[in-house]
Amino acid sequence: MVHTTVLLREAVDALVTTPDGAYLDGTYGRGGHSRLILQRLSPRGRLLAIDRDPHAVAAATQGQTRVEDPRFSIHHTSFAHMAETLASQGVSKLHGLLLDLGVSSPQIDDAARGFSFRFDGPLDMRMDPTRGESAADFLARADERLLTEVIRDYGEERFALQVAKALVARRESGNPVRTTGELSDVVARAVRTREAGQNPATRTFQALRIFVNAELEELEQALSGALDLLWPGGRLVVISFHSLEDRIVKTFIARESKDVVDRRAPFAAPKPMRLKSIARVKPGAEEVEANPRARSAVMRVAERTEVMA
Ligand SMILES: C[S@@+](CC[C@H](N)C(=O)[O-])C[C@H]1O[C@@H](n2cnc3c(N)ncnc32)[C@H](O)[C@@H]1O
Repeated sequence: MVHTTVLLREAVDALVTTPDGAYLDGTYGRGGHSRLILQRLSPRGRLLAIDRDPHAVAAATQGQTRVEDPRFSIHHTSFAHMAETLASQGVSKLHGLLLDLGVSSPQIDDAARGFSFRFDGPLDMRMDPTRGESAADFLARADERLLTEVIRDYGEERFALQVAKALVARRESGNPVRTTGELSDVVARAVRTREAGQNPATRTFQALRIFVNAELEELEQALSGALDLLWPGGRLVVISFHSLEDRIVKTFIARESKDVVDRRAPFAAPKPMRLKSIARVKPGAEEVEANPRARSAVMRVAERTEVMA
């Protein structure tokens, strides 16, 4: 259950510009990026880490994988709430923020977490099982329309309506879906065409995971919060694993990389741009061959501009 870090060197090279600076790893996972960041920091540098998964926090604080470094601290929360966490640690500004989105291999490979159709287990899917609603509880209450919207919008599943109808029919027969295996079976019967090399349930599993964890909303919240937290010259580095996430990051950076003219006051000075886009990086062929999870990764890097708006 190890996690192979994606774009390790590329992300840390882009992130750390000031070895004495303060950095936030918003997605600690198993600390692949964090460890290399610590190697790049001077004794005066500081790294705060966040993960919403208590197992990730435990890995950083207990046993052989714990990080014993006075420059490091880890906090159990969502990166959407990073400003409060930083404030509680006396940090008001950052030299860099890293978000390596999605789930880690230890999450996917643990049947009890319910993330994967490859292992039968309870259909949970929460990155933070201490709060919120599990995927099974959501399926137990959502009506056909909401199910269709979630599966279509977050899974980009053409057969969303058929899957939703099958789920509701099964629930109404007194046998609601409670496990990953049951969900796979229902979807396999409702989705008639299989994409080459893909399990028919892939899109439905992605949709439920995104919904249950409010992944897109949390990302939007973190991105807009980052503008106030970064020093001028501070770096924002985001690694996405599917097009819905990457679209949010790309649109955000593009929007903040332009001076904004107020249409109601066209002669007033425009609101100056707050970010400068630096790079878009994809893993090379060698990395993808060694780690298939890297195939869909896209990293975007932006820098906070000098002008504080
Ligand atoms: C792809 S893994 C990160 C792997 C890490 N970079 C490494 O090298 O080990 C993503 C991690 O982010 C966490 N995560 C996802 N969304 C989060 C959020 N909104 N707030 C905090 N952590 C989140 C997940 O629990 C998971 O541990």
